[in-house]
Formats: sequence, structure tokens, C-alpha cells
Amino acid sequence: MTNLEQALVTHVARYWMSTILRHSRHVGNGGLWSHTRRYTPHMTLQTSVYIATTLDGFIARAGGSLDWLEHDSGEADYGFNAFMTSIDCLVIGRITFEKVLGFGDWPYSGKHVIVPSTNLSNNDIPEELRAGVEVVNGNPADLLAALEARGFKHAWVDGGDTIQRFLRAGLIDEITISRIPILIGNGIPLFGVIDGDIRLSHVSTTSFDSGLVQSLYRVCG
Ligand SMILES: NC(=O)c1ccc[n+]([C@@H]2O[C@H](COP(=O)([O-])OP(=O)(O)OC[C@H]3O[C@@H](n4cnc5c(N)ncnc54)[C@H](OP(=O)(O)O)[C@@H]3O)[C@@H](O)[C@H]2O)c1
Repeated sequence: MTNLEQALVTHVARYWMSTILRHSRHVGNGGLWSHTRRYTPHMTLQTSVYIATTLDGFIARAGGSLDWLEHDSGEADYGFNAFMTSIDCLVIGRITFEKVLGFGDWPYSGKHVIVPSTNLSNNDIPEELRAGVEVVNGNPADLLAALEARGFKHAWVDGGDTIQRFLRAGLIDEITISRIPILIGNGIPLFGVIDGDIRLSHVSTTSFDSGLVQSLYRVCG
């Protein structure tokens, strides 16, 4: 990787962490994790999606590039700390996990991370991360049940395909989407085919000077 590419990746990684992973200050508290999901096999573990998309609904370009995320976020703190403080574990799709690994700095220290995958094993996890990261294989309900049995309370579910699997299983409680005002026409979509309609209730929308518009939805089922 050239110095330029490394710098770009680092820049995007920082931007990603400071923009995507932030949470609107209007989103915290207020019953955020407290609605009834479609199926209720898990009574205490809450699940949130927190993600940035293009205006046309993509989370990455077809090849995985996040270059479209670059824009001036100014002084805005979209509630990043509040969101990160609120979660105690993450479910990260294998492709997103590999992307984050490529960023260099591990951004989820102090949080338990599970990586659902049929291709990876725990041997693929860098040794220095193994205490807090594990590869798992199972359906979404079983993954959440295992987390809940270990006492976790609030999971961040991340990665387009992974989010879609959890949505289809009726296992997402809250969705926060930060929309960047750009159309890219093609890429990896946040949403996909579902078995039936999923109704959501709109909780709040906040627009920022940067042009980012952040909306919180609660999944009704
Ligand atoms: N814009 C944003 O805020 C944002 C956020 C996150 C990610 N991204 C981008 O989105 C892209 C990745 O998303 P993606 O939709 O391609 O993939 P993804 O959801 O990150 O990963 C999908 C993979 O996760 C594994 N997986 C998920 N659920 C599973 C289950 N229940 N059991 C077994 N394996 C399971 C499978 O891995 P195997 O193939 O190994 O079985 C599957 O191929 C990356 O480019 C990333 O940078 C953007």
C-alpha cells in the first residue's frame, strides 16, 4: 500500500469513526432501547443499527470503497460517545470486520465483538484482539441468545448483509441512519429483499450544517 493509500485509509477510518459511529444527541435516552420487536426470544438484549448511507441508500461502493463519506463534518458531534457508551457488544459482519481490520487501529476496545462467518475461524483473528473478538456461526436468534446468556445488554449490529439477516429475523430494535447528501448510483445497499413488510416508527430526525441528516427509527414489526 502506498503512503497515499495508507493516508486515505487512515483518513476514511477516522472519518468513519467520527461520522458514522456517532449518534445524534437527540437520539439518546428516551426509550431508545425499549420497544417490542416482532419476535421476542430475547427479552433483555437490545439491538441497534447505526450506519451511514448515501442518499440513494448505499453503505459502500460496489468494491467496498467509503470515499463518498468524505465531507466536512465541522464541529458536529453526532452523539458518538453516547452511542458507544450505550453498547456493550457488537455483531459485525465478516466483510465489515475485515474492512475495519484494514484500518489498523482497532476501534472497539472494551466492547465484546462477535463476527458471524462461515469462512473465518478464531485463528483468523489477530492474536492481540482474541480476548475481545470471536468468530461465530449460527442464525441471528442463536447469536443473540448466546450474547444475552453472557449478560450483554445492547448490541450494535453492523454490515449490510448482516443487518439484513437480523432484520429478516425480526431482531433489530432501532435503526439510526446518517444520510450523506450524495448519489453514487450503485453499491452495497443497506436494505434488501424481505419476506414481508417491516413497519417502523419515526422517532426523530436531525439535520446538521454538514448536510448530514440523521434519523432514528424504531422497528415496530
Ligand atoms: N456506511 C457505513 O456506515 C458502513 C457500515 C458498515 C459497513 N460498511 C461497509 O459495508 C461493506 C460490508 O457489508 P456487506 O453487506 O458486504 O457484508 P457484511 O454484513 O459486513 O458481512 C457479510 C458476511 O458476514 C457473515 N455473516 C453475517 N451473518 C451471518 C450469520 N448469521 N452466519 C454466518 N455468517 C454470517 C457472512 O460471512 P461469510 O461469507 O464468511 O460466511 C457474510 O458473507 C464494507 O464495504 C463496509 O466497509 C459501511
